[in-house]
Amino acid sequence: MTTCRSTFATPAATAVQPQTTAIADAFRLALGCAEAFVGATAPNPPVGCALLDAGGQVLACGAHARAAKAHAEAAALDACHRAGTFGRIHTLVVTLEPCNHTGRTPPCVDAILASPARAVWFGVRDPNAEVLGGGAERLLAAGLEVGALGALPHPDAADLAHAAWRLIAPFRKWKQTGRPWITVKQALDASGGMIPPAGRTTFTSQDSLILAHRLRRRADAIITGSGCVLADDPAFTVRHAQDHTGKHRILAILDRRGRVPSAYIEAAQARGFDVRVRSDLNALLAELGAAGVMEALVEAGPTLLSAIAEAGFWDEHIVIRQAPTPGLPDAVERRLRMGDA
Ligand SMILES: NC(=O)c1ccc[n+]([C@@H]2O[C@H](COP(=O)([O-])OP(=O)(O)OC[C@H]3O[C@@H](n4cnc5c(N)ncnc54)[C@H](OP(=O)(O)O)[C@@H]3O)[C@@H](O)[C@H]2O)c1
Repeated sequence: MTTCRSTFATPAATAVQPQTTAIADAFRLALGCAEAFVGATAPNPPVGCALLDAGGQVLACGAHARAAKAHAEAAALDACHRAGTFGRIHTLVVTLEPCNHTGRTPPCVDAILASPARAVWFGVRDPNAEVLGGGAERLLAAGLEVGALGALPHPDAADLAHAAWRLIAPFRKWKQTGRPWITVKQALDASGGMIPPAGRTTFTSQDSLILAHRLRRRADAIITGSGCVLADDPAFTVRHAQDHTGKHRILAILDRRGRVPSAYIEAAQARGFDVRVRSDLNALLAELGAAGVMEALVEAGPTLLSAIAEAGFWDEHIVIRQAPTPGLPDAVERRLRMGDA
């Protein structure tokens, strides 16, 4: 199969195009729009879209906010309608290849073809088997100029393409394997240990706490172990970031010996969690996938983290290292199991 790099060239230099920098800036904007809804869109991927006029000026930005709501392209086109700028649309920049099939909403390709857009730039190909290749090819066949972000001659193109890839990585994995994307968050103290001092549940900074809550915000489920529950009585709610309205997560607890008290389970349910106490890690991941979980965040002690590492069940590993000197920021390291894909 051809890649997007080789399939779609940079639109012809002779055509009336907004500047390459404007396209890169529009991708940055579209990625930012989409980021706001990561964790709210399951079973759909988060997507962002920016519309530019022929001079490269931004007319509108839109995002897919949640399932059954407008796709990003439709949201941005609608914003132009409302602002009276629809007729000025020239270039559509979208983080994911426009869809070409009717799902809960009509195909985005139809909406684009019904607009004045003459050029379309997309971040990544749609991994959805029903549409792979369909949207971009149909736009090309209709005479639009179509470019893939990877082919944009801009120094930031590779980083932006990676961000677009990461944006839909959980959706891609879930769609292709039926299992969620697993992000492991691990805090290490200055000597490399995971256990907080007696009487405390954490040793990292306020900024790290905010990061941890942002990771929860983007997850559809939290996975933990009985050891973490018994030691810390963790709430697992999103408190140091603004959570998505009406979001309900699964809280999955690995507990083979039945040590987690029913009072903890009832309190977690009262906080809005769908609590699932399980003994088989592999079966749990399949169960979460079947329940529509695209991304799960692991917040657990060393025993469960070792089991996940040994089984190779993780996709992204985020290590927060406590600063060696008080007052300095913690260091954050992010690693993808598959490399930078
Ligand atoms: N620094 C950090 O990032 C961080 C995060 C969370 C917690 N902690 C700390 O970690 C400490 C607790 O550590 P821990 O290792 O006891 O807790 P844990 O890893 O959260 O939980 C361990 C329990 O999980 C279950 N489990 C582990 N692997 C399993 C597998 N493959 N299949 C099924 N069940 C499995 C086992 O339950 P059974 O015993 O029933 O088999 C095991 O006892 C606490 O002090 C807490 O503060 C640190």
